[in-house]
Amino acid sequence: MDNYNEKLGLNIPEHVGIILDGNGRWAKKRLMPRNFGHLQGSKVLEQICDDADDIGIKYLTVYVFSTENWKRSKKEIDGLMRILRNYLKDCVKRANKNNMKVRILGKKDGLDDDIIKNIEELEAATADNTGLVFQVALNYGSRDEMVRAMRAMTKDIIEKGISPENITEQMFSGYLDTAGVPDPDLIIRTSGEKRISNFLLWQSAYSEFDFPEVLWPDFNKQRLIEAVERYNKRDRRFGGVKEE
Ligand code: IPE
Ligand code: IPE
Ligand code: MG
Repeated sequence: MDNYNEKLGLNIPEHVGIILDGNGRWAKKRLMPRNFGHLQGSKVLEQICDDADDIGIKYLTVYVFSTENWKRSKKEIDGLMRILRNYLKDCVKRANKNNMKVRILGKKDGLDDDIIKNIEELEAATADNTGLVFQVALNYGSRDEMVRAMRAMTKDIIEKGISPENITEQMFSGYLDTAGVPDPDLIIRTSGEKRISNFLLWQSAYSEFDFPEVLWPDFNKQRLIEAVERYNKRDRRFGGVKEE
């Protein structure tokens, strides 16, 4: 691993989130079907995992399919699920080679049984890996995640007789799909769109945001380093005041 911290004098964000957007537009520019863009996007994602690890990022969370993406055509969804199946199949091998721990965020409801089985196997097979923690937000929506968390928390509160005054932010965080993982320091959304589209709403309270004008299938290590460089110019105050 190159030490980018020393080499470029960069403060490397511990946790980076990426909303990978622009696959459809990338394909359209080439007069190709949208799923051609998704296929290329899945290849870029494989590479970016290695790159993130190489740069020294410890947690990478990528948004690949939202709870709202079911609104798309059956043809596009079928294509996406086909790409996902292939991706999951290869992922175990790659993850174990790179010592990467994979975790899937999002709800299982709505996903086909074979995909759920593959996800569970992938998580179990990589659970003891100690390298990059790679979280894939799939059939994920932050509001859905919070509602699921509230349901689980309420159930425990009733069972254990916890009083409402004793509910804390930390306690609620522990019921989210991201439990145990620090909040993202930097969230990148490709394609130039400047919105969060239901990604990590709770966890991004103090994240820095970066919106590069690049479509996801054209994203690469250099673009990632540039985003980290811009992040380094930010002044993170977390509500405080910097000493002069
Ligand atoms: C992102 O690319 C991938 C998914 C949301 C599944 P898009 O498919 O949203 O691409 P654009 O935004 O239409 O270009
Ligand atoms: C956000 O992208 C979801 C993912 C990248 C998985 P979309 O392309 O679905 O978001 P909107 O519709 O532009 O907000
Ligand atoms: Mg999009």
